[in-house]
Amino acid sequence: MRILLFLHLIGASIWLGGHLILALKILPPAWRARDPAPIRAFEERYEALGLPALLLQVITGIWLATLWLPANAWLSDNPLASLIRLKLGLLALTLMLGAHARLRLIPRLSGANLGGLAVHIYAITLTALALAWVGVSFRFGGVL
Ligand code: HEM
Repeated sequence: MRILLFLHLIGASIWLGGHLILALKILPPAWRARDPAPIRAFEERYEALGLPALLLQVITGIWLATLWLPANAWLSDNPLASLIRLKLGLLALTLMLGAHARLRLIPRLSGANLGGLAVHIYAITLTALALAWVGVSFRFGGVL
């Protein structure tokens, strides 16, 4: 349990930390200059660390969730089941935003269509913050 949580927090640091750096430090100057090159350069270097980190989150997260509540109760009205469903919903949103950005937006990125990618970067960063908030909520029994 402790090692799983440790690995989950390492993965969260990489995923959330990387996206905060992208959203707060790489994107704003690139947006002002209408220059996609720094974003593309960051994505290319970050991907090799970010994608394994996300995979680690899925494996450790689902494992931790089964320790909190057996999988056959995940559709029940237990408050922990709601947190698990919320986590899985936010994960699905992350995967959709990431796949759309990676497969559709990044290959034809230019100064003119940087706005669409900026929206995706903010959305995926906010989703990562929400995943961390919902994660912390397990020990408090609810999101508020
Ligand atoms: C990038 C994605 C994710 C991030 C950034 C993230 C982040 C976090 C954070 C910061 C915690 C708090 C740990 C603590 O309270 O000490 C947590 C806990 C947790 N997360 Fe995630 N998480 C992610 C994905 C997932 C996924 C896909 C699941 C699957 C259901 C999941 C399930 C859990 C569970 C069950 C806990 C409670 C662990 C415990 O305190 O025992 N997480 N997460």
